[in-house]
Amino acid sequence: MANTVIIGMQWGDEGKGKIVDLLCPAFDAVARYQGGNNAGHTVRFGDSHFALHFIPSGVLHPQMRCVLGNGMVFNPDAFFEELEGLAGHGIDWTGRLFVSDRAHLLLPAHIELDGARERARGADRIGTTARGIGPAYETKISRFGVRVGEIIGGSGDSRLDALVRRLGDELAQLDASRPDADALTALCRGWGARLEPMVRDTAQLLNGWIDDGLAVLFEGAQGTLLDVDHGTYPYVTSSNSTAGGVCTGTGVPPKRLSGVLGILKAYTTRVGRGPFPAELTDERGDFLRERGNEFGTTTGRPRRCGWLDTVVARYSQMINGVDSIALTKLDVLDTFEEIKICTAYRIGDRETTEFPSTLEEIAAAEPQYETVPGWKAPTDGILEFDDLPAEARDYVRLAEELVGAPIGLVSTSPRREETIVRTGAGLEPLTSDRLDRVIARRDGE
Ligand code: GDP
Ligand code: IMO
Ligand code: MG
Repeated sequence: MANTVIIGMQWGDEGKGKIVDLLCPAFDAVARYQGGNNAGHTVRFGDSHFALHFIPSGVLHPQMRCVLGNGMVFNPDAFFEELEGLAGHGIDWTGRLFVSDRAHLLLPAHIELDGARERARGADRIGTTARGIGPAYETKISRFGVRVGEIIGGSGDSRLDALVRRLGDELAQLDASRPDADALTALCRGWGARLEPMVRDTAQLLNGWIDDGLAVLFEGAQGTLLDVDHGTYPYVTSSNSTAGGVCTGTGVPPKRLSGVLGILKAYTTRVGRGPFPAELTDERGDFLRERGNEFGTTTGRPRRCGWLDTVVARYSQMINGVDSIALTKLDVLDTFEEIKICTAYRIGDRETTEFPSTLEEIAAAEPQYETVPGWKAPTDGILEFDDLPAEARDYVRLAEELVGAPIGLVSTSPRREETIVRTGAGLEPLTSDRLDRVIARRDGE
């Protein structure tokens, strides 16, 4: 799987960070292609625990070249803060971390606006991460945006003024204070000078690396159901978090992508507001939250929890063209007597396995469940699929059948060392020598 895309198959927090970290030995570069610091990707690395919001998780591996692609919205303060955090852990990114000159700037006024709009929406608020993501993408689409490359040398100054006026008008309407254009211009000068050594035409870089035979991992943020086109609109993020976002968000064309690995949690979570048919609002949901430590990496909010919903996962499989699945957090289900898996929705008098488009239909969807016996035994630390308890193997096989894609990786702990690699289960494009490197690193060699 040279040039592999990693996407979340649910509403985010599927464990993308852990899987990216596991796979890094098979790759030479990693690129983020959408979103901003709304993401929170957790990686256990040795004895340390990293939460990366902005910079690709692969930065922890010294051989990896890292790209923040043009499809991202870029908050310089958050970026520098994350760099300092990495430096504090002895991670040296010098000369291997690149920011797209075409990524759009996310300004403090976008963050203000995110908060002011959420307050104005009241009961209809989205429940955003309050990082300014929606307003920054809106600025880009409305063609008032300023790109990272334009703050170097000040070529974007007049457009920056126009943008500040526009954001100021909306902030004033919402009873928030107007940003100071001069202060912002000065801030941009400082950012530009600091960023200059890292800013590149990253489409040229990535395509050049691929020409040279290097393998690139594309690290998605959020998840399919949070995609602005394919998700549960309007309770979504403002970017294309599905596999299609890779091409627009990096400038690497579809023909150069070799495969898609979908990350699927063995149950479902969602943080923020919006529909969630298989949500458990009883003690089983509380149990999943506690045992799975389901509290937001970015905002600390408790995540809503429910059973695995294969209507959602099958939809993701279709939208992303998933070649293989990494099933994560199987261990969280270890103690259940019985486990449910959603196979279809009943909406009025019809039953469907297709994910509906309107909020009204999703709200009316009654999940139809198949109940399977739990395995009631620990699974963490098991490295061979055949060593899993029979009921756990059956659960994995049932998920494969219902979702319609093979499960190539089964994760049973936050640690890289505790992941089952099923050679042959859709992982074939990841050539055997590259897969061997992943297994060797997993085993600490
Ligand atoms: P991401 O946003 O998709 O990268 O996921 P997050 O990092 O926000 O949330 C996933 C959480 O689950 C993190 O705290 C991971 O360390 C943890 N995790 C990942 N895989 C496993 C697993 O197989 N078992 C358990 N128990 N935890 C896991
Ligand atoms: P990772 O990459 C889970 C959710 C927010 C909110 C909605 C819109 O860690 O999986 P935004 O701030 O993007 O405008 O918020 O999207 N959201 C996430 N939920 N994981 C994430 O990222 C998320 N990024 C945004 O909670 O419901
Ligand atoms: Mg997360």
